[in-house]
Amino acid sequence: MRVEFHNLSKRFDDNRTVLEPMDFTDDIHTLAVIGPSGGGKSTLLRILGGLITPTTGEILMDGAPISRDESALQRYRANLGFVFQQSGLFKHLNALENITLPLEKVHGYSKKEAIERASALLTRFGLENDAQKHPAALSGGQQQRVAIARAIAAKPKLLLLDEPTSALDPEYTTEVLDIVDELKNEGLDFIIVTHEMGFARHACEKIVFLCEGRLMEYGESAELFGNPQTSQLKNFLGKLLEWNV
Ligand SMILES: Nc1ncnc2c1ncn2[C@@H]1O[C@H](COP(=O)(O)OP(=O)(O)O)[C@@H](O)[C@H]1O
Ligand SMILES: [Mg+2]
Repeated sequence: MRVEFHNLSKRFDDNRTVLEPMDFTDDIHTLAVIGPSGGGKSTLLRILGGLITPTTGEILMDGAPISRDESALQRYRANLGFVFQQSGLFKHLNALENITLPLEKVHGYSKKEAIERASALLTRFGLENDAQKHPAALSGGQQQRVAIARAIAAKPKLLLLDEPTSALDPEYTTEVLDIVDELKNEGLDFIIVTHEMGFARHACEKIVFLCEGRLMEYGESAELFGNPQTSQLKNFLGKLLEWNV
């Protein structure tokens, strides 16, 4: 998907600038957004997802501007999949129903079609025996797998993930990242905010480094990790490596 934005910035009501004006144009297949906490990663992802509006600037997805009109925004969001740090599953619904509900209510699937699609995804993600379980009965990793199944069920044009593994125990992180990696092989484009540098480096083609509200570096992952240009990125990567075995 071609992602393009010009003079994009965000200031919240308290008047603090969270994103400084930034520009970007590229064809995205797999993009990781990395950087220190508070740097504006979630804010940028939410703006690209049409969940919040930027203070200035224009965003184009495959050449089409994201409108500020609420009904147009709703149609835009229906073409995307979202996965957040906490799964955001409906607690009173079981795994299967969590996936079928938006298919029926938002995407116009019949009940039968929705159940077929949801069951196929649950099986594919190794959750065929968990369809009737409520989120509280699932591990964190299983919950995130259901959340990803829900996000991709209607075949979105772009999947947006905001630290999908950061609330997970390490042993569950791999099972979730494996799924995201697999989706890429099917041609699903995604943008992921992550602190998993191994995943960013080896599974994502391109990287955006955001720091203190600035888009400091952008490029191919091998280039960015291998040859960081700014002191901020060198510093950030250096800190991450400090305790690596
Ligand atoms: N709704 C909001 N209102 C005011 N400030 C916000 C809001 N959302 C985020 N911020 C601030 O914006 C900055 C960037 O936040 P965020 O985009 O969440 O960064 P990151 O995801 O990189 O940690 C933070 O200082 C945060 O406190
Ligand atoms: Mg964040």
